[in-house]
Amino acid sequence: MAREYELTPRRVPRIETALRRIVTELPAPASVPVLEKLHRYEPVAMRGQPPIVWDRAEGFQVFDAYGNCWIDWSSGVLITNAGHGRREIIEAVSGQAASKLLTNYCFPSEIRARLVEKIASLLPEPLKKVFLLTTGSEAVECAIKLCRTNGIKVGGRSKNVIVSYDKAFHGRTLGSQQAGGIPALKDWIVNLDPGFVQIPFPDGFRTGNTSFEFFEECLSKTGIKPVDVAGVVLETYQGGSASFAPPEYMKRLRKWCDVNGALLVCDEVQAGFGRTGTMWGFEHYGIVPDLATFGKGISSSLPISAVAGRPDIMDLHPPGSMTSTHTGNPVCCAAALASIEIVEKENLAENARKQGALLLSLLNDLKAKHPEIGCVDGKGLVAGLSCVKPGTKEPDGDLAWDIVERSITKGVLMFSPVGFGGGTVKICPPLVITEEAIRESAEAFSEAFSEALAARKQEAAV
Ligand SMILES: Cc1ncc(COP(=O)(O)O)c(C=O)c1O
Repeated sequence: MAREYELTPRRVPRIETALRRIVTELPAPASVPVLEKLHRYEPVAMRGQPPIVWDRAEGFQVFDAYGNCWIDWSSGVLITNAGHGRREIIEAVSGQAASKLLTNYCFPSEIRARLVEKIASLLPEPLKKVFLLTTGSEAVECAIKLCRTNGIKVGGRSKNVIVSYDKAFHGRTLGSQQAGGIPALKDWIVNLDPGFVQIPFPDGFRTGNTSFEFFEECLSKTGIKPVDVAGVVLETYQGGSASFAPPEYMKRLRKWCDVNGALLVCDEVQAGFGRTGTMWGFEHYGIVPDLATFGKGISSSLPISAVAGRPDIMDLHPPGSMTSTHTGNPVCCAAALASIEIVEKENLAENARKQGALLLSLLNDLKAKHPEIGCVDGKGLVAGLSCVKPGTKEPDGDLAWDIVERSITKGVLMFSPVGFGGGTVKICPPLVITEEAIRESAEAFSEAFSEALAARKQEAAV
Protein backbone atom coordinates (compact mmCIF):
# COMPACT_ATOMS: atom_id res chain seq x y z
CA MET A 1 0.00 0.00 0.00
CA ALA A 2 1.48 3.30 -1.09
CA ARG A 3 1.19 5.14 2.21
CA GLU A 4 3.53 6.85 4.55
CA TYR A 5 3.56 8.14 8.11
CA GLU A 6 3.42 11.74 9.32
CA LEU A 7 6.74 13.13 10.49
CA THR A 8 5.12 15.65 12.83
CA PRO A 9 5.49 14.48 16.44
CA ARG A 10 2.22 13.72 18.25
CA ARG A 11 1.59 13.33 21.96
CA VAL A 12 0.88 9.74 22.92
CA PRO A 13 0.11 8.22 26.33
CA ARG A 14 3.18 7.30 28.38
CA ILE A 15 3.85 3.57 28.61
CA GLU A 16 6.24 2.13 31.14
CA THR A 17 6.40 -1.59 31.80
CA ALA A 18 9.34 -3.93 32.28
CA LEU A 19 9.23 -4.69 28.53
CA ARG A 20 7.92 -1.53 26.83
CA ARG A 21 8.64 2.15 27.22
CA ILE A 22 7.13 5.05 25.30
CA VAL A 23 8.19 8.30 26.92
CA THR A 24 8.37 10.84 24.07
CA GLU A 25 6.04 12.16 21.45
CA LEU A 26 6.06 9.99 18.32
CA PRO A 27 7.96 10.27 16.13
CA ALA A 28 10.44 11.29 18.82
CA PRO A 29 11.07 15.01 18.19
CA ALA A 30 14.85 14.57 18.33
CA SER A 31 14.63 11.90 15.60
CA VAL A 32 12.92 14.15 13.06
CA PRO A 33 16.17 15.51 11.50
CA VAL A 34 17.27 11.91 10.80
CA LEU A 35 13.91 11.09 9.24
CA GLU A 36 14.06 14.26 7.15
CA LYS A 37 17.55 13.41 5.95
CA LEU A 38 16.34 9.97 4.84
CA HIS A 39 13.42 11.60 3.05
CA ARG A 40 15.76 13.96 1.27
CA TYR A 41 18.39 11.45 0.14
CA GLU A 42 16.55 8.16 -0.26
CA PRO A 43 13.97 7.36 -2.91
CA VAL A 44 10.33 7.75 -1.93
CA ALA A 45 10.02 3.98 -2.28
CA MET A 46 12.03 3.58 0.92
CA ARG A 47 9.28 5.25 2.96
CA GLY A 48 6.28 3.46 4.36
CA GLN A 49 7.56 1.96 7.59
CA PRO A 50 6.80 3.43 11.02
CA PRO A 51 9.02 6.46 11.70
CA ILE A 52 11.05 4.98 14.50
CA VAL A 53 14.77 5.50 14.26
CA TRP A 54 16.26 2.18 15.35
CA ASP A 55 19.27 2.65 17.59
CA ARG A 56 19.85 -0.84 18.97
CA ALA A 57 17.94 -4.07 19.32
CA GLU A 58 18.32 -6.96 21.71
CA GLY A 59 16.46 -10.24 21.97
CA PHE A 60 12.83 -9.38 21.20
CA GLN A 61 13.14 -5.64 21.88
CA VAL A 62 13.98 -2.63 19.72
CA PHE A 63 15.23 0.64 21.22
CA ASP A 64 15.53 4.17 19.87
CA ALA A 65 18.05 6.65 21.22
CA TYR A 66 15.41 8.73 22.97
CA GLY A 67 14.30 6.42 25.76
CA ASN A 68 11.62 4.41 23.93
CA CYS A 69 11.54 0.63 23.70
CA TRP A 70 9.23 -1.73 21.83
CA ILE A 71 8.41 -5.42 21.95
CA ASP A 72 9.28 -6.35 18.39
CA TRP A 73 6.69 -8.12 16.26
CA SER A 74 8.69 -7.63 13.04
CA SER A 75 12.08 -9.36 13.48
CA GLY A 76 13.19 -6.60 11.09
CA VAL A 77 11.40 -8.35 8.30
CA LEU A 78 11.55 -11.93 9.61
CA ILE A 79 15.32 -11.72 9.86
CA THR A 80 16.19 -12.09 13.54
CA ASN A 81 15.12 -15.66 14.26
CA ALA A 82 17.84 -16.08 16.90
CA GLY A 83 16.95 -12.71 18.41
CA HIS A 84 18.30 -9.24 17.83
CA GLY A 85 21.89 -8.36 18.68
CA ARG A 86 22.90 -11.81 19.92
CA ARG A 87 26.27 -11.80 21.66
CA GLU A 88 27.30 -15.04 19.91
CA ILE A 89 26.64 -13.53 16.49
CA ILE A 90 28.43 -10.30 17.33
CA GLU A 91 31.46 -12.28 18.53
CA ALA A 92 31.44 -14.50 15.44
CA VAL A 93 31.23 -11.48 13.14
CA SER A 94 33.92 -9.57 15.07
CA GLY A 95 36.17 -12.63 15.20
CA GLN A 96 35.87 -13.24 11.49
CA ALA A 97 36.48 -9.57 10.70
CA ALA A 98 39.51 -9.54 13.00
CA SER A 99 40.94 -12.55 11.16
CA LYS A 100 41.31 -10.22 8.16
CA LEU A 101 39.39 -12.48 5.81
CA LEU A 102 36.60 -10.10 4.83
CA THR A 103 35.81 -11.45 1.41
CA ASN A 104 36.62 -14.52 -0.68
CA TYR A 105 34.49 -14.48 -3.88
CA CYS A 106 34.42 -18.14 -5.07
CA PHE A 107 37.94 -18.85 -3.83
CA PRO A 108 37.73 -21.62 -1.27
CA SER A 109 37.53 -20.67 2.41
CA GLU A 110 37.09 -22.74 5.53
CA ILE A 111 34.21 -20.73 6.92
CA ARG A 112 32.21 -21.16 3.70
CA ALA A 113 32.89 -24.90 3.78
CA ARG A 114 31.63 -25.04 7.36
CA LEU A 115 28.41 -23.20 6.53
CA VAL A 116 27.42 -25.24 3.46
CA GLU A 117 28.19 -28.43 5.38
CA LYS A 118 26.06 -27.22 8.31
CA ILE A 119 23.05 -26.32 6.16
CA ALA A 120 23.27 -29.59 4.20
CA SER A 121 23.51 -31.57 7.44
CA LEU A 122 20.29 -30.04 8.74
CA LEU A 123 18.32 -30.53 5.53
CA PRO A 124 16.67 -33.83 4.63
CA GLU A 125 17.69 -35.93 1.63
CA PRO A 126 18.02 -35.09 -1.21
CA LEU A 127 18.74 -31.41 -0.43
CA LYS A 128 22.45 -31.94 0.00
CA LYS A 129 24.15 -29.27 -2.10
CA VAL A 130 24.08 -25.62 -1.12
CA PHE A 131 24.90 -22.48 -3.11
CA LEU A 132 25.30 -19.27 -1.11
CA LEU A 133 24.15 -15.90 -2.37
CA THR A 134 23.30 -12.56 -0.81
CA THR A 135 19.57 -11.83 -1.07
CA GLY A 136 16.37 -13.84 -1.17
CA SER A 137 15.57 -12.50 -4.64
CA GLU A 138 18.89 -13.82 -5.95
CA ALA A 139 18.23 -17.22 -4.44
CA VAL A 140 14.83 -17.33 -6.19
CA GLU A 141 16.42 -16.22 -9.47
CA CYS A 142 18.90 -19.06 -9.15
CA ALA A 143 16.13 -21.58 -8.45
CA ILE A 144 14.29 -20.38 -11.57
CA LYS A 145 17.48 -20.77 -13.61
CA LEU A 146 17.96 -24.31 -12.32
CA CYS A 147 14.34 -25.25 -13.07
CA ARG A 148 14.61 -24.00 -16.61
CA THR A 149 18.03 -25.53 -17.17
CA ASN A 150 16.69 -28.87 -16.02
CA GLY A 151 13.48 -28.44 -18.02
CA ILE A 152 15.38 -27.78 -21.23
CA LYS A 153 17.63 -30.76 -20.55
CA VAL A 154 14.83 -33.25 -19.94
CA GLY A 155 12.12 -31.88 -22.23
CA GLY A 156 13.59 -29.46 -24.75
CA ARG A 157 13.26 -25.70 -24.95
CA SER A 158 9.48 -25.66 -24.65
CA LYS A 159 9.76 -27.07 -21.13
CA ASN A 160 10.49 -23.71 -19.56
CA VAL A 161 7.31 -22.68 -17.74
CA ILE A 162 7.47 -21.64 -14.10
CA VAL A 163 4.15 -22.09 -12.33
CA SER A 164 3.73 -20.08 -9.16
CA TYR A 165 0.88 -18.59 -7.14
CA ASP A 166 -1.34 -15.53 -7.10
CA LYS A 167 -0.47 -13.05 -4.33
CA ALA A 168 2.98 -14.59 -3.88
CA PHE A 169 6.08 -12.48 -3.30
CA HIS A 170 9.46 -13.86 -4.32
CA GLY A 171 11.48 -10.66 -4.62
CA ARG A 172 11.88 -7.56 -6.77
CA THR A 173 14.40 -8.57 -9.45
CA LEU A 174 13.21 -9.28 -12.98
CA GLY A 175 12.75 -13.05 -12.64
CA SER A 176 11.71 -13.23 -8.99
CA GLN A 177 9.17 -10.46 -9.54
CA GLN A 178 7.66 -12.34 -12.47
CA ALA A 179 7.40 -15.46 -10.33
CA GLY A 180 5.46 -13.30 -7.87
CA GLY A 181 1.71 -13.08 -8.09
CA ILE A 182 0.99 -9.41 -7.47
CA PRO A 183 0.17 -7.81 -10.86
CA ALA A 184 0.63 -4.20 -9.73
CA LEU A 185 4.27 -4.91 -8.85
CA LYS A 186 4.92 -6.18 -12.38
CA ASP A 187 3.53 -3.24 -14.29
CA TRP A 188 7.04 -1.88 -14.94
CA ILE A 189 8.16 -5.07 -16.67
CA VAL A 190 5.92 -4.40 -19.69
CA ASN A 191 7.11 -7.42 -21.72
CA LEU A 192 6.11 -10.13 -19.31
CA ASP A 193 7.71 -13.49 -20.00
CA PRO A 194 4.94 -15.91 -21.07
CA GLY A 195 6.90 -18.64 -19.33
CA PHE A 196 5.62 -17.49 -15.94
CA VAL A 197 2.04 -18.25 -14.91
CA GLN A 198 0.27 -17.99 -11.60
CA ILE A 199 -2.68 -19.85 -10.22
CA PRO A 200 -4.72 -19.34 -7.03
CA PHE A 201 -3.10 -20.38 -3.75
CA PRO A 202 -5.25 -22.88 -1.84
CA ASP A 203 -5.49 -20.94 1.43
CA GLY A 204 -9.11 -21.83 2.16
CA PHE A 205 -10.14 -18.20 2.70
CA ARG A 206 -9.31 -16.16 -0.39
CA THR A 207 -9.40 -19.33 -2.47
CA GLY A 208 -12.21 -21.53 -1.21
CA ASN A 209 -11.40 -24.48 -3.44
CA THR A 210 -8.33 -26.13 -1.92
CA SER A 211 -8.52 -29.35 -3.95
CA PHE A 212 -5.61 -30.36 -6.12
CA GLU A 213 -7.99 -30.79 -9.04
CA PHE A 214 -8.41 -27.01 -8.90
CA PHE A 215 -4.65 -26.62 -9.52
CA GLU A 216 -4.95 -28.78 -12.63
CA GLU A 217 -8.07 -26.96 -13.76
CA CYS A 218 -6.49 -23.51 -13.31
CA LEU A 219 -3.30 -24.57 -15.06
CA SER A 220 -5.26 -25.93 -17.97
CA LYS A 221 -7.13 -22.59 -18.24
CA THR A 222 -3.80 -20.79 -18.69
CA GLY A 223 -3.23 -22.94 -21.81
CA ILE A 224 0.00 -24.40 -20.39
CA LYS A 225 0.51 -28.12 -20.91
CA PRO A 226 1.91 -30.00 -17.87
CA VAL A 227 4.68 -31.38 -20.06
CA ASP A 228 5.95 -27.82 -20.57
CA VAL A 229 6.24 -27.01 -16.87
CA ALA A 230 9.86 -26.76 -15.72
CA GLY A 231 9.09 -25.95 -12.10
CA VAL A 232 6.43 -25.10 -9.57
CA VAL A 233 7.58 -22.42 -7.14
CA LEU A 234 5.73 -21.54 -3.98
CA GLU A 235 6.33 -19.64 -0.80
CA THR A 236 6.06 -22.41 1.81
CA TYR A 237 3.46 -20.16 3.40
CA GLN A 238 2.21 -17.09 1.59
CA GLY A 239 4.08 -14.14 3.02
CA GLY A 240 1.21 -11.74 2.50
CA SER A 241 -1.16 -13.66 4.73
CA ALA A 242 0.87 -16.33 6.55
CA SER A 243 -1.45 -18.95 5.03
CA PHE A 244 -0.46 -22.56 4.32
CA ALA A 245 -1.75 -24.97 1.70
CA PRO A 246 -3.43 -28.21 2.87
CA PRO A 247 -0.84 -31.01 3.34
CA GLU A 248 -2.91 -33.29 1.08
CA TYR A 249 -2.70 -30.72 -1.73
CA MET A 250 1.06 -30.47 -1.30
CA LYS A 251 1.48 -34.24 -1.41
CA ARG A 252 -0.48 -34.33 -4.66
CA LEU A 253 1.60 -31.44 -6.02
CA ARG A 254 4.79 -33.32 -5.13
CA LYS A 255 3.54 -36.33 -7.12
CA TRP A 256 2.34 -34.16 -10.00
CA CYS A 257 5.82 -32.60 -10.31
CA ASP A 258 7.44 -36.05 -10.35
CA VAL A 259 5.04 -37.38 -12.97
CA ASN A 260 5.48 -34.33 -15.20
CA GLY A 261 9.24 -33.94 -14.80
CA ALA A 262 8.88 -30.55 -13.12
CA LEU A 263 10.92 -29.43 -10.12
CA LEU A 264 9.18 -28.42 -6.92
CA VAL A 265 10.69 -25.36 -5.27
CA CYS A 266 9.81 -24.21 -1.76
CA ASP A 267 10.74 -20.59 -1.20
CA GLU A 268 11.71 -20.77 2.47
CA VAL A 269 13.14 -17.26 2.58
CA GLN A 270 10.60 -16.49 5.34
CA ALA A 271 9.76 -19.98 6.53
CA GLY A 272 13.19 -21.48 7.17
CA PHE A 273 15.29 -21.80 10.33
CA GLY A 274 12.59 -22.45 12.89
CA ARG A 275 10.11 -19.70 12.10
CA THR A 276 7.05 -21.91 11.71
CA GLY A 277 7.72 -24.18 14.70
CA THR A 278 9.76 -26.70 12.69
CA MET A 279 13.25 -26.20 11.31
CA TRP A 280 11.86 -26.06 7.74
CA GLY A 281 8.40 -24.88 6.78
CA PHE A 282 7.91 -27.71 4.27
CA GLU A 283 7.96 -30.22 7.14
CA HIS A 284 4.33 -29.24 7.82
CA TYR A 285 3.41 -30.76 4.47
CA GLY A 286 5.26 -34.05 4.84
CA ILE A 287 7.08 -33.46 1.54
CA VAL A 288 10.58 -32.51 0.48
CA PRO A 289 11.03 -30.15 -2.49
CA ASP A 290 13.72 -30.55 -5.15
CA LEU A 291 15.05 -27.09 -4.40
CA ALA A 292 14.62 -24.72 -1.47
CA THR A 293 15.60 -21.09 -1.17
CA PHE A 294 16.64 -19.42 2.07
CA GLY A 295 17.44 -15.90 3.26
CA LYS A 296 16.33 -13.58 6.07
CA GLY A 297 16.49 -15.78 9.21
CA ILE A 298 19.51 -17.72 7.98
CA SER A 299 21.86 -15.33 9.78
CA SER A 300 19.55 -13.27 12.02
CA SER A 301 21.68 -10.34 10.88
CA LEU A 302 24.01 -9.90 7.87
CA PRO A 303 22.89 -10.39 4.24
CA ILE A 304 23.26 -13.94 3.06
CA SER A 305 20.95 -16.35 1.26
CA ALA A 306 21.11 -19.86 -0.10
CA VAL A 307 19.69 -22.32 -2.59
CA ALA A 308 19.79 -25.94 -1.51
CA GLY A 309 18.84 -28.81 -3.71
CA ARG A 310 19.25 -32.21 -5.25
CA PRO A 311 22.90 -32.63 -6.21
CA ASP A 312 22.03 -33.61 -9.79
CA ILE A 313 20.13 -30.33 -10.21
CA MET A 314 22.62 -28.15 -8.34
CA ASP A 315 25.40 -29.58 -10.52
CA LEU A 316 23.72 -28.79 -13.85
CA HIS A 317 25.95 -25.81 -14.55
CA PRO A 318 29.66 -26.32 -15.23
CA PRO A 319 32.49 -24.78 -13.17
CA GLY A 320 32.46 -20.99 -13.10
CA SER A 321 28.94 -20.56 -14.42
CA MET A 322 26.93 -20.10 -11.23
CA THR A 323 28.82 -17.48 -9.24
CA SER A 324 28.31 -14.22 -7.44
CA THR A 325 30.85 -11.67 -6.22
CA HIS A 326 29.76 -11.95 -2.62
CA THR A 327 28.78 -15.59 -2.53
CA GLY A 328 29.49 -16.91 0.94
CA ASN A 329 31.08 -13.76 2.22
CA PRO A 330 33.14 -14.96 5.21
CA VAL A 331 31.73 -12.45 7.71
CA CYS A 332 28.17 -13.29 6.63
CA CYS A 333 29.00 -17.00 6.84
CA ALA A 334 30.24 -16.52 10.40
CA ALA A 335 27.01 -14.73 11.29
CA ALA A 336 24.91 -17.49 9.72
CA LEU A 337 26.82 -20.27 11.46
CA ALA A 338 26.44 -18.56 14.83
CA SER A 339 22.75 -17.91 14.26
CA ILE A 340 22.02 -21.48 13.14
CA GLU A 341 23.89 -22.81 16.18
CA ILE A 342 21.71 -20.67 18.46
CA VAL A 343 18.51 -21.81 16.73
CA GLU A 344 19.60 -25.43 17.23
CA LYS A 345 21.09 -25.16 20.72
CA GLU A 346 18.18 -23.22 22.18
CA ASN A 347 15.63 -25.26 20.26
CA LEU A 348 14.04 -22.09 18.97
CA ALA A 349 11.78 -23.98 16.57
CA GLU A 350 10.15 -25.50 19.64
CA ASN A 351 9.85 -22.10 21.31
CA ALA A 352 8.28 -20.80 18.10
CA ARG A 353 5.81 -23.68 18.19
CA LYS A 354 4.93 -23.12 21.84
CA GLN A 355 4.72 -19.32 21.89
CA GLY A 356 3.13 -19.37 18.45
CA ALA A 357 0.30 -21.58 19.70
CA LEU A 358 -0.35 -19.04 22.46
CA LEU A 359 -0.14 -16.10 20.06
CA LEU A 360 -2.55 -17.70 17.60
CA SER A 361 -5.03 -18.56 20.34
CA LEU A 362 -4.98 -14.94 21.59
CA LEU A 363 -5.46 -13.66 18.04
CA ASN A 364 -8.31 -16.11 17.50
CA ASP A 365 -9.96 -14.85 20.73
CA LEU A 366 -9.79 -11.38 19.20
CA LYS A 367 -11.23 -12.65 15.93
CA ALA A 368 -14.17 -14.21 17.80
CA LYS A 369 -15.09 -10.73 19.05
CA HIS A 370 -14.57 -8.74 15.85
CA PRO A 371 -16.19 -9.39 12.47
CA GLU A 372 -13.57 -6.98 11.09
CA ILE A 373 -11.06 -9.85 11.30
CA GLY A 374 -11.65 -12.08 8.28
CA CYS A 375 -9.12 -14.73 9.22
CA VAL A 376 -6.09 -15.45 11.32
CA ASP A 377 -3.45 -17.56 9.58
CA GLY A 378 -0.05 -18.83 10.57
CA LYS A 379 2.03 -21.42 12.34
CA GLY A 380 4.78 -21.05 14.90
CA LEU A 381 5.83 -17.44 15.23
CA VAL A 382 4.34 -16.09 12.05
CA ALA A 383 0.77 -14.93 11.98
CA GLY A 384 -1.35 -12.87 9.63
CA LEU A 385 -4.46 -11.15 10.88
CA SER A 386 -6.50 -10.09 7.89
CA CYS A 387 -8.81 -7.10 8.31
CA VAL A 388 -11.94 -7.11 6.16
CA LYS A 389 -15.12 -5.14 5.69
CA PRO A 390 -17.46 -7.10 8.01
CA GLY A 391 -19.44 -9.82 6.30
CA THR A 392 -17.15 -9.78 3.24
CA LYS A 393 -13.68 -10.91 2.23
CA GLU A 394 -12.84 -7.42 1.00
CA PRO A 395 -9.58 -6.29 2.65
CA ASP A 396 -9.71 -3.24 4.91
CA GLY A 397 -6.28 -1.69 4.49
CA ASP A 398 -7.25 1.49 6.34
CA LEU A 399 -8.18 -0.42 9.46
CA ALA A 400 -5.01 -2.53 9.33
CA TRP A 401 -2.91 0.63 8.94
CA ASP A 402 -4.62 2.34 11.89
CA ILE A 403 -4.09 -0.72 14.11
CA VAL A 404 -0.39 -0.88 13.29
CA GLU A 405 0.02 2.85 13.91
CA ARG A 406 -1.74 2.62 17.26
CA SER A 407 0.21 -0.48 18.29
CA ILE A 408 3.45 1.41 17.74
CA THR A 409 2.32 4.11 20.16
CA LYS A 410 1.72 1.35 22.71
CA GLY A 411 5.22 -0.06 22.41
CA VAL A 412 4.51 -2.96 20.04
CA LEU A 413 6.55 -2.67 16.85
CA MET A 414 5.38 -4.04 13.52
CA PHE A 415 6.06 -3.34 9.91
CA SER A 416 3.24 -1.78 7.91
CA PRO A 417 0.38 -4.02 6.80
CA VAL A 418 1.03 -6.40 3.93
CA GLY A 419 -0.89 -8.68 1.61
CA PHE A 420 -3.93 -8.33 -0.56
CA GLY A 421 -5.27 -4.76 -0.33
CA GLY A 422 -2.79 -4.05 2.49
CA GLY A 423 -5.29 -5.66 4.85
CA THR A 424 -3.03 -8.03 6.75
CA VAL A 425 -1.28 -7.23 9.99
CA LYS A 426 1.73 -9.52 10.06
CA ILE A 427 3.08 -10.70 13.38
CA CYS A 428 6.51 -12.32 13.44
CA PRO A 429 8.54 -11.72 16.59
CA PRO A 430 12.06 -13.07 17.11
CA LEU A 431 11.89 -16.74 18.07
CA VAL A 432 13.35 -15.97 21.51
CA ILE A 433 10.19 -14.17 22.62
CA THR A 434 8.82 -15.21 26.02
CA GLU A 435 5.29 -16.06 27.12
CA GLU A 436 5.18 -12.90 29.23
CA ALA A 437 6.08 -10.76 26.22
CA ILE A 438 3.55 -12.53 23.98
CA ARG A 439 0.76 -11.96 26.51
CA GLU A 440 1.71 -8.34 27.15
CA SER A 441 2.11 -7.42 23.48
CA ALA A 442 -1.09 -9.23 22.48
CA GLU A 443 -2.98 -7.30 25.17
CA ALA A 444 -1.59 -3.98 23.89
CA PHE A 445 -2.44 -5.02 20.33
CA SER A 446 -5.99 -5.85 21.36
CA GLU A 447 -6.33 -2.37 22.93
CA ALA A 448 -5.02 -0.83 19.69
CA PHE A 449 -7.59 -2.83 17.76
CA SER A 450 -10.50 -1.72 19.95
CA GLU A 451 -9.36 1.90 19.82
CA ALA A 452 -9.11 1.81 16.03
CA LEU A 453 -12.66 0.49 15.80
CA ALA A 454 -13.96 3.06 18.32
CA ALA A 455 -12.28 5.88 16.37
CA ARG A 456 -13.90 4.64 13.20
CA LYS A 457 -17.35 4.59 14.83
CA GLN A 458 -16.81 8.08 16.15
CA GLU A 459 -15.80 9.32 12.67
CA ALA A 460 -18.88 7.71 11.15
CA ALA A 461 -21.10 9.40 13.76
CA VAL A 462 -19.82 12.92 12.95
C1 LIG B 1 9.22 -15.58 0.41
C2 LIG B 1 10.21 -14.53 -0.04
N1 LIG B 1 11.01 -14.79 -1.08
C3 LIG B 1 11.92 -13.91 -1.51
C4 LIG B 1 12.03 -12.66 -0.92
C5 LIG B 1 13.04 -11.68 -1.43
O1 LIG B 1 14.08 -11.56 -0.52
P1 LIG B 1 15.06 -10.29 -0.54
O2 LIG B 1 14.25 -9.11 -0.10
O3 LIG B 1 16.15 -10.66 0.42
O4 LIG B 1 15.56 -10.16 -1.93
C6 LIG B 1 11.21 -12.34 0.15
C7 LIG B 1 11.29 -11.01 0.78
O5 LIG B 1 10.43 -10.55 1.47
C8 LIG B 1 10.26 -13.30 0.60
O6 LIG B 1 9.46 -13.04 1.62
